Amino acid sequence: MNTYQLFLSIHSIVRWIALILLLVVFVKSITGLLAKNNYGKLDNILSASSLGFIHLQVLIGLVLYLFLSPSTDLAFQDFGKAMKDSLLRFWAVEHLIMMLLAAVLIHVGRIKSKKAASDRSRFRQQAIFYGLGLLLILLGIPWNRFGI
Ligand code: HEM
Repeated sequence: MNTYQLFLSIHSIVRWIALILLLVVFVKSITGLLAKNNYGKLDNILSASSLGFIHLQVLIGLVLYLFLSPSTDLAFQDFGKAMKDSLLRFWAVEHLIMMLLAAVLIHVGRIKSKKAASDRSRFRQQAIFYGLGLLLILLGIPWNRFGI
């Protein structure tokens, strides 16, 4: 296994951890809101660790993007031409933008929920921002590709 394959496999595995955590935070936020639950220690741990895994995923993605991926390497050789190729465009632009935007949304959700004055508002901020981030990530994942 070369360095590219190693990073791609880690990127593929971390995807599942991040997705599960985001889904749990989203569902817990909706139910917390509807059932008027208290925002507990576990909610805080889940929300912080999903942001942590998203950061890790962005970092691994950046290494793939800038140094290791043959797809982005090919795209950088002639960017104009790559924009006309749907697969190269996906790796050089679409995946990057959707995932970075998702990371920003989740980050904003975490900050807003930490600053919120009530538990209800904490759950609401998380439901909105983590929910939108999760949706973007689901849209940005190449589900047709064989991976782990
Ligand atoms: C934050 C959430 C992200 C998720 C869930 C995610 C998910 C994935 C998945 C599932 C793959 C395919 C793995 C495989 O085929 O085994 C992939 C590949 C890749 N991702 Fe991400 N990614 C994320 C963020 C990023 C970011 C921010 C970047 C760029 C800065 C990036 C760059 C790449 C690159 C370059 C590839 C490999 C393309 C290739 O060599 O063909 N990813 N990603």
